[in-house]
Amino acid sequence: MIDNDMIEKLIEVAFHARQNSYSPYSDYQVGAALLTEDGSIYTGCNIENAAYSPTNCAERTAFFKAVSEGKRQFSAISIVGGAKGKEIVEYANPCGVCRQVMMEFCNPQTFQIIVAKSVSEYEIKTLEELLPNGFGAANLQF
Ligand code: THU
Repeated sequence: MIDNDMIEKLIEVAFHARQNSYSPYSDYQVGAALLTEDGSIYTGCNIENAAYSPTNCAERTAFFKAVSEGKRQFSAISIVGGAKGKEIVEYANPCGVCRQVMMEFCNPQTFQIIVAKSVSEYEIKTLEELLPNGFGAANLQF
């Protein structure tokens, strides 16, 4: 389990990363902060595209940055999302594609997903809670 100080830090870092969101089409800005098991933090924001489908979510940006730098063990991710220029009023839970990317690299029983409205208002769920009966690498070991 990660402690309260780390939870707060991850949320703050996700808010900071959200400032880099490139989202001119949806005006929905998302930031993420991914904690590796060795204690480093990788940030991500959503990056949209005029052709729409190449859009990358904040969570996957963080994962792909970390994996491309040799990290493969993760403990938690914080996510903050909401309309540009407005107060964050809802939790931005990760989309299905991002949950599947998490499934590739994380232990569903222990990986913690922190969705936050502020440093003091957040919910924590495991990947297993958000992606029950997920399909992963273990399914291809026969
Ligand atoms: N988005 C994320 O960054 N993460 C999610 O898990 C859900 C959606 C982004 C993608 C797009 O830029 C915008 O939010 C609206 O869907």
